[in-house]
Order: sequence, then C-alpha cells, then structure tokens
Amino acid sequence: MADARDDIRRQAELLTRTGPGTPAGELLRRYWQPVAFAKDLPDGGPPRPVRIMGEDLVLFRDDRGRAGLLGLKCSHRCADLSYGRLEDGGLRCVYHGWLYDVSGRCLEQPGEPGGGAHRDQVRHLAYPCLERGGAVWAYMGPGQPPLFPEYPALSAPEAYRFGGRWFSACNYLQGNEGNIDPVHTSYLHRFDLDQVDPYQRISTSVFGVDTAPRLSIENARFGIRLFTERSLPAQGKKILRVTNFVMPNACAIGGYETGLGRGGCSMFWHVPIDDTHHWRYEFTFHSKAKLPVHLIVDQQGSERDENDMPYRNAANRYRQDRDEMSRTFIGMGHNFPSHDLFVTESQGAIHDHGAEHLVTSDLAIARARRQIAAAIHDVEEGKDPLGVLRHPADNDFRDLLVLTEALDTAVDPSEFCRELAQENIYALNPEIAAAA
Ligand code: FES
Ligand SMILES: [Fe+2]
Repeated sequence: MADARDDIRRQAELLTRTGPGTPAGELLRRYWQPVAFAKDLPDGGPPRPVRIMGEDLVLFRDDRGRAGLLGLKCSHRCADLSYGRLEDGGLRCVYHGWLYDVSGRCLEQPGEPGGGAHRDQVRHLAYPCLERGGAVWAYMGPGQPPLFPEYPALSAPEAYRFGGRWFSACNYLQGNEGNIDPVHTSYLHRFDLDQVDPYQRISTSVFGVDTAPRLSIENARFGIRLFTERSLPAQGKKILRVTNFVMPNACAIGGYETGLGRGGCSMFWHVPIDDTHHWRYEFTFHSKAKLPVHLIVDQQGSERDENDMPYRNAANRYRQDRDEMSRTFIGMGHNFPSHDLFVTESQGAIHDHGAEHLVTSDLAIARARRQIAAAIHDVEEGKDPLGVLRHPADNDFRDLLVLTEALDTAVDPSEFCRELAQENIYALNPEIAAAA
C-alpha cells in the first residue's frame, strides 16, 4: 500500500510543478495561455510585472498598440523593466536606456559608441502574444507557436461574452479539477432558492434534482467530455449536463445555458503564477441570448477587489457565516467562484494526492490526470501533445458541447452529442451584436 501511495505522490509531483524545465511546465508551455485582460493593458498604460509559471516577466503595450511579454530583468545589468519607458516602438530600460521591442530585439544602446555596435547579439527573453476574447495570450514554449484555438467563447465579439479572473492561493491542477467534478455542485453550491436571481435559481434547482447523479466520460480531441445524468422519475426523464476538460489546464462548462437555452459555454483557464498560486481566468459566452452582465458584475464585484483579489480568504476563514448555513450549504453567500476558490484552497497549497480516496464521482479527475501524464510523455518524445492545433481544418469547436437538457431516459448521451456536434449550436444570433 505504501508503494502505491508513493507512486501516486510521484505522479502528483509530475503534474503540479510548472517552473521552467519541469515536465508539466514544459507541457503547459505548449499551449497559448491567458496572461491578462486587455482592459488592464490600455494604450499608454504602465508596464505590468507578471509572474507566470514561476517566471518573472513584464507585460506591456508599446506605442504602436502591440502587446509584449519580456523577461523582467534588463539584459544589460538586470534593472527591472516594469519601471521602463514606453517609447520609440518598444520598452526602454530607465537605467542606461536600452530599448527592446516586443520580439526581444535590442533596438538601441544609447550609451554605447554608435548606439551599440553589438546590440544585435543581445536577444532578450520574449514570448509571442496575441489578443482574443478580450484577453492577452502568450505562447511560452519552444518553436513555432501552434494555431490559436478558435473556441466560440473566445472568438465571438464582445457583445456575446463576459470575462474576469480570480486570484487563487493554491496549485493550478486542483483549481481546475473542481471544474470536472460535477457532483460537488449539488453540495458546495447548494442554497435556498428564494434569495437568488432567476438564472441561479434555475441552475441550482437542476443540481438539487438528484444529488447522486451518474457520471460517465469519453475521450475527446480536446480532452474529456463528461456526462452527468440526473433522474426525473416523475416525468420519466433525466437531465443531462455535458461539460468538458480541455487540455491541459482549462475546461468548458455551464454558460447560462440552463436559463438562456442552448448556445452557452463558459471556459476557464487555471494559469500558474507559481506552484502554490494561480489565476482562474473565466470567459462566459452565449451565442443566442444576452448574458445578464449587470447581475454578474454586481455579484462578483462584491466578492473581489479591483486587482481581482477575493475578499474571502484563509486569513478571514472565507467569511464563513455559521448562521447562514441554515440557508446555504457552506455559509459563504451565493457566488460560485468564491465557493470553488475556498474549497480548492482548503485542500492545501499543493493538494496531496496520496491522502485522497477517489470514488466514482472522481472519474473525470482520474482520467484527466492520466491524460496530462500521457501528454507530458508525448512532449518528452518530441511530439505535439493532445489538443495542440497545427491544421486550420481542426480549428472548429462546434463539438465542444456544453448542455443542460431534459431528455428521455433511454437517450444515450454519447450518441446524442455525436449527432448534435454536426450542428453548430454556437452560431451567433446577430441581433445580440446589433442590440449592444
Ligand atoms: S540595466 Fe538596463 S540599460 Fe543598463
Ligand atoms: Fe463549483
């Protein structure tokens, strides 16, 4: 038994360490990762020091509007470039005036004879960036970046989506594992329905229909598709929820499809700051109906500050209100992300897999760990891991289905999804953009 636990802990070590040169770090660097929301990098705004997967970097927008991500410390004598000047097509170090462009070329060494005869020999650390879904994304891996995956939640115009992020004081892996654990919604997020907005009321009532749902999974080209089936015996029906693990640190889950109908999909990315902290980036999208943005803003605005730091944290015991527990399961209000951040942080800064007892509801978590481990192996063998895109023909995600639907009990969920994937439930309703 001790040996089996040791093996589990060895695998956990492999999956949770993300610094440069670590196996999972090398894997995560093969995918585009969100590094900021574009609104936090306005034209003329200051450079921002950022830490991503244990690397200290500076994110900036140059005077031509291009986003750049460079090593934080100047290549000359290591001054902090986040204090630099944005001018002349790049970021200028304030110590001796070296100027870098977004690709890491040193354009000027003004204190050197002739402006620096050997400046071309300097290649400052630089990662390519692009902007999608209102966020800046970076590719921090080697070689040619893969295609950017045109997920509907990211490629739709702004009128169809809403984005935000949350700081979380734990490892990225356990943060994302909460998203592929559909049974917890019936407990952690349970509350009396009379105090919440209509959208939450509908989704929460679905979770309460059957608190021991059946979970099954299948492999998908992007990761894992999850089927959660809840019985509605009185009607001879069941409620099928379809959610997804997206390699290697993302998911596609409920996006107001319960209240607004088919066509909603939220995607989250859990991006390591280091191995004990990460950002949870959220992109909420609906193709057919207007999202209740004012409700989202009101609720989330009362749960985090202007730097995306949650007000609830371990130091204040997540403001748990024991009296409130007669109306909510955990005594922490109605904001789902706050519940998720609390519970995943409570597992420990890096959750100890060796102390777990996985059960049937952890099916997708166990499969995702195996999928990540296999992808790490592929990278080590020089192959592209699962979900990395190289061919435009593969860049269509109508098969990334997110659903909550009442079906006859006899319907096979896998078959149902295979047929539905032929349609495009994410085709945009132009009236939404017109009304924005
Ligand atoms: S340390 Fe940056 S120019 Fe000298
Ligand atoms: Fe949750």
